[in-house]
Amino acid sequence: MKATRDCTKPLSENKNLLKWVEKMGQLTKPDRVHWVDGSEEENQMLCDQMVDAGTFIKLNEEKWPGCYYARSDENDVARVEDRTYICSLSRDGAGPTNNWVDPFPMRKKLKELFNGCMRGRTMYVLPFSMGPVGSPMSQIGVQLTDSPYAVVNMRIMARIGTAVYREIDKGDKRVVPCMHTVGKPLADGEADVPWPCNWEKYIVHFPETREIWSYGSGYGGNALLGKKCFALRIASNMARDEGWMAEHMFIVGVENPQGEKTYVAGAFPSACGKTNFAMLVPPAGFEGWKVWTVGDDIAWIKPNEEGVLRAINPEAGFFGVAPGTSLKTNPNAMAALSRNTIFTNTALTPDGGVWWEGMTEEPPEECLDWKGNRWTPEIGRATGAKAAHPNSRFTAPASQCPTIDPDWENPNGVPISAFLFGGRRATGLPLVYQAFNWSAGVYMGATMGSETTAAAAGATGKVRRDPMAMLPFCGYHMGAYFRHWLRMQRSLQQTPRIFGVNWFRRGKDDRFMWPGFSENMRVLRWIVDRSHGRAFGRETPIGYMPRYEDIEWEGLEFARSQFEELQAFDREAWKQELLGHEELFIELHDQLPPEVIYERELLICRL
Ligand code: GTP
Ligand code: SPV
Ligand code: MN
Repeated sequence: MKATRDCTKPLSENKNLLKWVEKMGQLTKPDRVHWVDGSEEENQMLCDQMVDAGTFIKLNEEKWPGCYYARSDENDVARVEDRTYICSLSRDGAGPTNNWVDPFPMRKKLKELFNGCMRGRTMYVLPFSMGPVGSPMSQIGVQLTDSPYAVVNMRIMARIGTAVYREIDKGDKRVVPCMHTVGKPLADGEADVPWPCNWEKYIVHFPETREIWSYGSGYGGNALLGKKCFALRIASNMARDEGWMAEHMFIVGVENPQGEKTYVAGAFPSACGKTNFAMLVPPAGFEGWKVWTVGDDIAWIKPNEEGVLRAINPEAGFFGVAPGTSLKTNPNAMAALSRNTIFTNTALTPDGGVWWEGMTEEPPEECLDWKGNRWTPEIGRATGAKAAHPNSRFTAPASQCPTIDPDWENPNGVPISAFLFGGRRATGLPLVYQAFNWSAGVYMGATMGSETTAAAAGATGKVRRDPMAMLPFCGYHMGAYFRHWLRMQRSLQQTPRIFGVNWFRRGKDDRFMWPGFSENMRVLRWIVDRSHGRAFGRETPIGYMPRYEDIEWEGLEFARSQFEELQAFDREAWKQELLGHEELFIELHDQLPPEVIYERELLICRL
């Protein structure tokens, strides 16, 4: 029999870490401290414990091996952008697109909030590496959390445990301290609830000292601190200081029938198609083509000595939007999530499985919805209630994706040939166009607009400016971020080509004009060929566009007139669009790089 480990015994010898854990323990006052080793046994113990506590339901082992189901509190279902803070020393450091609070009073507030916040709970010490352990592009953090749900999710989303302590003990990499509590201490003998959280939420970043403090939420980006808090908000600060880029981007490798591989990275806002695009299955007419997945949400990109941009996916799993995911739209995601996956806020079927809108054509006859209420298609029709929350998600290991790229864990990353910027736009923006050059491409990304989605709390379907899909994730002044993008060109020998895409244009009947998903391969092929200087592009006021004959249509019936409607350049719509750019620029004016103003003037002249 295996001796059980004493989990309270520190697994690191790093004095700074030991001191910090002790100090934070004194502040948060947990009943016990558990040093996470990341092992299979430990994971099983935590899952069993959560099943007992009612946080987890174990799914049918035959159909969903190794899978668990969780239902969150109804008030804790998405990122909370209005409770997310960048506490730089100066207000200007955070810029007008971030919530800023002076770090001094914020620290005071956090001290109050965290004082005794873990009473009655266990504090987990969770070391994690964003990027392959030991890669020169990786970064290390330690999350102290009272949420076992966060621990088992982070185990899928990042590299955690013993190997990371060893990195920390070497002592040559900075460690980012990440404090997390669900903000629900337990009084003596008080019974816990399945999803503890607090009505009051604070997601706080101190960019200068590279610290994260998250209070009150157990959900997604609010609680899995390696993800948006570290890999984007803190990392964007590191990247600016050190000459690299931390972006809200997928990374894919496109292999043509000759075996040539081209890597493309793209920024689409939350719930706008990165996961789907990252796992694209080439349609009929593309025999011999393969799309390989490197990452679906975050890219860290750095120029190497030859001036080539190389990108890693800092994550190890997918925290993907469940609704709309099906064998038809994304078979690779369905394979990835078929085992060892955590489902949160989907529906639960009577046979111990999960379901969500769009998973199958026929909904189950009955199930329990994400709130735990009985749901039938009739009830859904009568009340409008969805079985799964629109931001319900799966947490699945990236290694289980059938198209995972052989180089996805290459410590030196993969070379990037093109960047895509894509929003969710019902009108005005074409299916695809190419920016004239790097600065025009930066302008394209900087002025991107998209309809809001359920990934963040608040209204959905409203067009807002979301520069480079980083509006909620850039940890410093957005104007300075544009300047950083423009400056990156100086360290490059090969500048990636930049493209704008929009899968979401609607016709007069209000339906999507473009079939999307697999069919996006047709656009991707043109992008790859353009990046190698092999395809034709027609010059228009906004950039280069493919003609009908420049796209591969084999296997899809799509008329020239339909395509022309999709690509139509609408002068009036672009005038409105420019006014939208202007609004953003007025907000950012004191840090706006001159190139952006010139690009806007050029665009006006061409219009
Ligand atoms: P985050 O994880 O929130 O950053 O989002 P994401 O960009 O990875 O979004 P995801 O790929 O999960 O897409 C979310 C939604 O977009 C789902 O409802 C999809 O069905 C829908 N979607 C994705 N690709 C397409 C497409 O090509 N066409 C259409 N019409 N919808 C799409
Ligand atoms: C997003 O909202 O862009 C996500 C989900 O990828 S979360 O991790 O919750 O931020
Ligand atoms: Mn995202």
